Amino acid sequence: MSKDRIVVTRRPPGDAVQLLEEAAALWVWPHDRPIDRSTLLREIVTATGLYSMLTDDIDQPLIDVAPHLRVISQMAVGVDNINLEACRRRGITVGHTPDVLTETTADLAFGLLIAAARRFGEGTRDVHSGKWGDWDPNYLVGHDVHGSRLGIIGMGRIGQAIARRANGFSMPVLYTQRHRDPQLEPGGASVVTLQDLLAESDHVVVATPLSDETRHLIGWNELQRMKSTATLINIGRGPLVDPDALDTALRTGEIFAAALDVTEPEPIPATHPLVSCPNCFITPHLGSATTRTRIAMAELAARNLIAGLRGDPLEAPAIA
Ligand code: GLV
Ligand code: GLV
Repeated sequence: MSKDRIVVTRRPPGDAVQLLEEAAALWVWPHDRPIDRSTLLREIVTATGLYSMLTDDIDQPLIDVAPHLRVISQMAVGVDNINLEACRRRGITVGHTPDVLTETTADLAFGLLIAAARRFGEGTRDVHSGKWGDWDPNYLVGHDVHGSRLGIIGMGRIGQAIARRANGFSMPVLYTQRHRDPQLEPGGASVVTLQDLLAESDHVVVATPLSDETRHLIGWNELQRMKSTATLINIGRGPLVDPDALDTALRTGEIFAAALDVTEPEPIPATHPLVSCPNCFITPHLGSATTRTRIAMAELAARNLIAGLRGDPLEAPAIA
C-alpha cells in the first residue's frame, strides 16, 4: 500500500470508494450533507489527495494547510469552487469530469427551455392549487421552441450537445465562444457577438463556466437587449446571471420567462423573489443527475485521483 492518504468530502455513488480504497488510505466524510469547513481543514493537513464536490470551497487557506496535497479530483465538470491559480503555484494537479455528463446535462437544458417557453411552472402551480379551470383558448399560452432561434452562450461540449438537440427541433443556432475553437463547426450554427446573440435569439441558454470574467455576464443591460418574448436558461453556474436584474426583467416583461438549474445563492431560499416569480422555473442543480451519469462521474473522478497520485497523466485534467 502506498503512503498516500485521500480525503473524500462526500460519499460518491458506484465503485468509486472501492477503487480509491485499493489505492490509498481513505478518509470519507460520513454524513449526508456537505463537509463542514473545520473538519475539512483538519483532515486535509495530512492528505496527499482530495476527492472534492462542487460545494467545497477549495481556497488558498485550505491549500496552505495541506503541505502534502498533490492531487485534487473533483466529481463535477465545473471547478469554479477551486482556486486553480493557487493549485498551479503549488504544483497541485486538478481533475474534473467532463464528457461523461455532457449529454445528460444537455437533456436537462432542453427540458428547461421547453418548461420556460411553454409555461410548465405556472401550469403545475395551477394544478396543485386547484386553479385549473375549464379549457380556455387564451390560457397559459407560451412561445414555440421548434423553429425558433436558439442562442447558446458558451459553445463547449455541453453547448454543442444542446445545438445537436436544436437541429432536431429545426432551430437555427447562434453562439458565442470566448476561446475560438478552430475545430468547431457545429452544423448550422453561426458565431456572433454576445450583443447580437441577445438581440436576435428567441431563447438564450447560458452554458459557460464561471470565472471572474463571466460573473454576472447576464445583467440588466444584457436582459434589456433580449426580445420580450424570449426565455433565458441558465445551466452553468448561478452567478453567471445577476439575480436581481433577472427578477426585475421577469416582472416587468423585459423578457418572457426564465429557467434556472443553478442559482445565486445556491440553494436559493424559498423566500427569494425569483422563487415566487411565476415565470421563473427553477430546478435544484439537477444537470448531471441521472444514475448512470453520476456513477460515471464518480468513477472518473476516482480514476483521475489515482492516476494523479501515481504521477500518471489524468484522464481529464482541469488545468493543463
Ligand atoms: C455540475 O454542475 C458540474 O459542474 O458537474
Ligand atoms: C462542459 O463540459 C463544457 O465544455 O461545456
